[in-house]
Amino acid sequence: MASAAAEFSGVSKAFTARGDAPAIENFDLRIEEGEFVCLLGPSGCGKTTALTLLAGFDRPSSGSVLHRGRPVAGPAADRGVVFQGDDSLMPWLTATENLLLGPRIRRVPLGEQRAIAERLLALVGLVGHGDKYPRELSGGMKQRIQIARVLANEPDMLLMDEPFAALDAQTRTHMQDELVRIWSEARPAVLFITHDVHEALILADRVVVMRAGPRSAVRTAFNVEAPRPRDRSDPRIAAAYGEIQRVMAEEFRRARQ
Ligand SMILES: Nc1ncnc2c1ncn2[C@@H]1O[C@H](COP(=O)(O)OP(=O)(O)OP(=O)(O)O)[C@@H](O)[C@H]1O
Ligand SMILES: [Mg+2]
Repeated sequence: MASAAAEFSGVSKAFTARGDAPAIENFDLRIEEGEFVCLLGPSGCGKTTALTLLAGFDRPSSGSVLHRGRPVAGPAADRGVVFQGDDSLMPWLTATENLLLGPRIRRVPLGEQRAIAERLLALVGLVGHGDKYPRELSGGMKQRIQIARVLANEPDMLLMDEPFAALDAQTRTHMQDELVRIWSEARPAVLFITHDVHEALILADRVVVMRAGPRSAVRTAFNVEAPRPRDRSDPRIAAAYGEIQRVMAEEFRRARQ
């Protein structure tokens, strides 16, 4: 079988300092090349833990995490990561300089860098703000620059942890549509964490729901059959919404027990 974009096999992760039970245990998930997967589950079930392992910021306690068939050994630009409320912009660089960090390191010619900056600033709706420093940008604007910075690296895998949670509703809808458009063009594999079932159904090929933790793993997965671009009022979306919501409500109750 061809290697997947990413594969978790029997992964457990225990944060042992307080003697807690493993956050995830025997976690299995395969993400195909070019596939868009949304990960849902009650707060604290281990979604960020799983994404962090694939990003390479932490190691599993047992089991294997592969990127394109190779064990993940650490972070790399080919796996672009966007965390919620992450504030990793360099304060001494402008928005444009921040988003061009990757292309500069790769020594992309200057003319091309200008074109990348223009395209990505337009994409995230920040034309005219490129010369501002992070302290001069709002929280949502900084978040969008971080997304643009990751996209500038043209990663083959995008790892996004509630990347739109801090955005206003209009910008969020726009960013969802734009993300689908970028994904259809570049076809990176995507692991996208959200609490918003509608967001998952607009974005994903497959919606994966985790069980309440500890010792969490995948409970079930839904293939989203509706064609793209998706219509938020498509009856297939509404039907899937009901089904996923029912499973989520069960896990939410278990998380509270
Ligand atoms: N660095 C850490 N040290 C100790 N425990 C941790 C650490 N990171 C996560 N945990 C624990 O692991 C469990 C899963 O946390 P995680 O952040 O993965 O949840 P999540 O599903 O992303 O939740 P949310 O939806 O609230 O973001 C929680 O019980 C949490 O307390
Ligand atoms: Mg999380």
